[in-house]
Amino acid sequence: MPAELWRPSLDLALHRNRSRPEMRLVQLATVRPDGRPAIRTVVFRGFLDDPRKLAFATDSRSAKRAEIEANPRGEICWYFPETREQFRVSGMLALIGPGSTDPALRQARADLWAELGDEVRAGFTWPAPREPRDAASRFSDVPPAPSSPVENFLLLTLTATEVDHLELQGDPQHRWIYEADPRGRWSGREVNP
Ligand SMILES: Cc1cc2nc3c(=O)[nH]c(=O)nc-3n(C[C@H](O)[C@H](O)[C@H](O)COP(=O)(O)O)c2cc1C
Repeated sequence: MPAELWRPSLDLALHRNRSRPEMRLVQLATVRPDGRPAIRTVVFRGFLDDPRKLAFATDSRSAKRAEIEANPRGEICWYFPETREQFRVSGMLALIGPGSTDPALRQARADLWAELGDEVRAGFTWPAPREPRDAASRFSDVPPAPSSPVENFLLLTLTATEVDHLELQGDPQHRWIYEADPRGRWSGREVNP
């Protein structure tokens, strides 16, 4: 049994929902500096070598960067339509940019950049998000080279510390809570839905 007791259930959900492209979309919640929640859709890009770490791609010019720098706590909410399951994965967010001092994470950032589609890579050359739209600004569809990530491209990781798995199938439904203690040891228990 892997140390991350929740991974087999999540891996199985990913496998059983693989025919649905939207199953890669998750809602990521962060906390704004004034305490208000912020939530947005992001694409799940896979797990890193550390089985607790989920990977996402984002732009250093987006609002979520300052939010995460001020408060790294975050949660994703993930619904799998085929099997009617919800996973809420809560934990610590980290932003990995060109200045990262960890060679493995720098490599993971470069690998993710190379894997992105051309359209997604082109988006990182666009004018800054949330700036007023200027008719004169250029939104190029020419993607930057896959071999060298642009400065503003960030690998975003979520290191899980708690997972809440709800399975709607079944009467009554099933729900499990998995928690990591401060030393990273996982425990899991079935609870009422
Ligand atoms: C289907 C879909 C997929 C998206 N994927 C991503 C993504 O992978 N990374 C990302 O930063 N934003 C993604 N976005 C845009 C975000 O939802 C959000 O609008 C943007 O990141 C700005 O968020 P912020 O102002 O909270 O930083 C996606 C939006 C949609 C609708």
